[in-house]
Amino acid sequence: MLPEPAEIDRAVALLQAGQLVAFPTETVYGLGADAANPLAVARIFAAKGRPADHPLIVHLAGAGCLERWARDIPSLAWELAEAFWPGPLTLILKRAAAVPTAVTGGQNSIGVRVPAHPLALALLRAYAEAGGGMGGMCGLAAPSANRYGRISPTEARHVREELGDSVPLLLDGGRCLVGIESTILDLTRGDSQPPRLLRPGRVTPEQIAAVIGVLPEAPALEADDDAPRVSGSLAAHYAPATALQLVAPQRLAEVIDRLHRAGRRCALLCHSQPPAGIAATGTVRRLAADPRGYARALYRALRELDQLAAHLIVVEDVPATPAWAAVADRLRRAAVGAGRQGDPADTQHRASPAEKKGAS
Ligand code: TXA
Ligand code: MG
Repeated sequence: MLPEPAEIDRAVALLQAGQLVAFPTETVYGLGADAANPLAVARIFAAKGRPADHPLIVHLAGAGCLERWARDIPSLAWELAEAFWPGPLTLILKRAAAVPTAVTGGQNSIGVRVPAHPLALALLRAYAEAGGGMGGMCGLAAPSANRYGRISPTEARHVREELGDSVPLLLDGGRCLVGIESTILDLTRGDSQPPRLLRPGRVTPEQIAAVIGVLPEAPALEADDDAPRVSGSLAAHYAPATALQLVAPQRLAEVIDRLHRAGRRCALLCHSQPPAGIAATGTVRRLAADPRGYARALYRALRELDQLAAHLIVVEDVPATPAWAAVADRLRRAAVGAGRQGDPADTQHRASPAEKKGAS
């Protein structure tokens, strides 16, 4: 599903003029603007309601434009770009001198990726041919096209629900195939040390190791001054408005039964056969039992369940295996950020006030 060339032309004209255009990527929909234009970038923060010190990812048409945005690019970065771009991998590199601080949230690093969605690539190429924005930098800053702290959109109508009329143009490219945000890898330490995995995604640590010969490291738990900050790494993120609780598969039936007896309406997100009682109520979304299929449908299902006005969304926990790591990460953040009140159910993870900080 690709829009008419005239729509791409309109999008390019808006971007060149410093306006916002929402567009699909293979991961989630992005809210795009000329990354070299501080006023255009400010419009992104305003539309999302996002604090201005959160850095944005810059999207490029190809690795050929990388040196406009990054300096001292380690050879690891070129190897990874060759292997995974276009695709769902964001590299954090040292930022080039010409990069405005608006897009990096004041940090010395820059996040870059080449998206794989054909519409995103067509837009980036047409944008580059038309001059590529301020200074001919050819980069589109694009965070996920949702309000700050909310669930990322994986369909055009989700973008409309989130941002309404604040975006002059929304390109509809159908459903996103990956469904969760890109893997983020910090390479600012250069070639001498392993990269750090800042956000798990479809590109797994094992796939990265197969290319560069070393597994990425987990980021330090304590705030560390030279580690880049990732807003998606705030505990509370990607959250529905309804409270959400993860429950081990073997305890599902018991927890749901107890909730029902306490008069609580609950919705269920599962990947195996749902308990008989709740299956009849129509408040169940059963996703694929493989992590890729599950990830693809996850955000859509959470949005649907969020609209049921249930007291609680119960989520059948996913296997604790590397293949499920990115999905498990998003579910845990959703559980921390979701809802505003406690719940009588037996919570595996109840957010402390400090953890809730960061959701909005
Ligand atoms: O899949 C994706 O990455 C989507 C699509 C639209 O490309 N974009 C996305 O953007 O998820 P956003 O802004 O919602 O999340 C980007 C994450 C944030 O957590 C941000 O803090 C982190 O990337 N990030 C960006 N630049 C960074 C930098 N220089 N250092 C550390 N983290 C950075
Ligand atoms: Mg986001």
